[in-house]
Amino acid sequence: MKKKALYICLLSLLATYSCTTSCNKENNFSVLEPFYFSDDSDFVHNNQFLSDTGILGKQIFFDASLSEPVGISCGTCHSPSAGFADGRHTAFSVGIDPLNPSDRNTISIAYNILAPDRHGDSIRGLPEDVGGYFWDGRAEFIEAQVTSPLLNPKEMNNKDIGQVASKIRKAPYFNDLKKLFKISNTKDDQMVMYATMLALKSFQTSKQVNPYTSKFDFYLQGKVKLSDAEMRGWKLFQDTTKSKCSLCHLSEANKFTNTIVFADFSYDNIGVPKHPSQIHLPLDSGFAKAEFVGKPIVINPLEIGRFKTVSLRNINKTAPYMHNGVFETLEEVLEFYNTREVNAKYVPEYTPTMNTEDMGDLKLSDTDIADIIAFLKTLDDGYRLK
Ligand code: HEC
Ligand code: HEC
Repeated sequence: MKKKALYICLLSLLATYSCTTSCNKENNFSVLEPFYFSDDSDFVHNNQFLSDTGILGKQIFFDASLSEPVGISCGTCHSPSAGFADGRHTAFSVGIDPLNPSDRNTISIAYNILAPDRHGDSIRGLPEDVGGYFWDGRAEFIEAQVTSPLLNPKEMNNKDIGQVASKIRKAPYFNDLKKLFKISNTKDDQMVMYATMLALKSFQTSKQVNPYTSKFDFYLQGKVKLSDAEMRGWKLFQDTTKSKCSLCHLSEANKFTNTIVFADFSYDNIGVPKHPSQIHLPLDSGFAKAEFVGKPIVINPLEIGRFKTVSLRNINKTAPYMHNGVFETLEEVLEFYNTREVNAKYVPEYTPTMNTEDMGDLKLSDTDIADIIAFLKTLDDGYRLK
């Protein structure tokens, strides 16, 4: 919490930045007027439904001059037409160095960005941590997440905040940033960075990134019917004794977003196998790992191997799947949940903390699996009502 206090202190330094009319506009997720785009280039040039801070954040998000050397933007790995996961569909996204990709699969930012700050809560009757950012929750709140890709040598590779801030100062949008966030001292790197974070947050939480325009959303509003297979899949998905999916990928509005995003943002070890290209690497301890002066340490052994339950919206567009991109298709994911315990081909990376109650031998038939997948495909944004 100390870190958060520091950020809040920086925020107060930014004098009177206030979230009045413009924020209301962008947080209005009304589907009465849906937001659509045809491809990434159309998306980049369309500012519909964005507040001034959202437009600014969008310019920063797609600014490829912020990497070192130039060429990689946030949008390189978080592509709008791939549900804001990596449109190149690789297990490990390539940033600045093609020979040195990221260690984990790119998370879709859409809807996942609406997670709460990491905090203790009651999950399925037990006190546990929920929320936070990254597969392992290492960023407690969104403001702490942003510097990570900008400084990560495998992503945007800046050497420090000073280097990023000096690039932001030279950017064509810097005057707007200065004005909108009332940066009183433009030489102050921390202030420039904090305004940058707020602008990025404004864009990432906007209706453009979280549009709720899936067939499923229109079905909930009574505007379209689901097919028989989709309907069977939706029912099965919610069946907590059969598929058990909704135990974690909540099928009702969660209390943080007040909308259905199919995630409770809790952490679980579902027994994902190692990715073949990472066999030589040490265990990815997931949630248990915390950076301590740049050195990862394990704090609670009961948390080893846990990763964040992410949203399933747009899941059809974000392959490959899981924190290490080990599964290429939704069929593979479903087969894994269905048979992990009884199929010798699955060798979970770390078993001592693995969830053996809610998955692994579900006894779903091939039709059940096909129906669940048909349902999952109704979660793609961009559905057009005829
Ligand atoms: C080289 C590819 C790459 C670039 C460039 C990149 N990201 Fe990411 N992003 C990732 C990967 C990989 C993860 C997951 C990392 C992990 O969990 O350890 C991620 C995770 C995230 C998350 C966490 C989502 C969640 O639900 O936990 C956010 C938010 C995010 N990125 C925003 C950004 C922003 C903003 C930028 C630009 C400043 C950016 N990313 C640049 C690859 C990238
Ligand atoms: C006990 C909680 C739990 C249950 C039950 C569960 N999941 Fe998950 N799900 C997770 C967690 C945690 C992850 C991330 C795991 C990782 O990457 O190591 C995940 C990841 C996924 C992913 C990949 C997401 C991505 O962006 O890569 C899909 C798809 C998925 N689950 C679908 C399902 C379906 C379908 C069911 C029901 C058959 C289900 N899940 C049941 C917790 C759960």
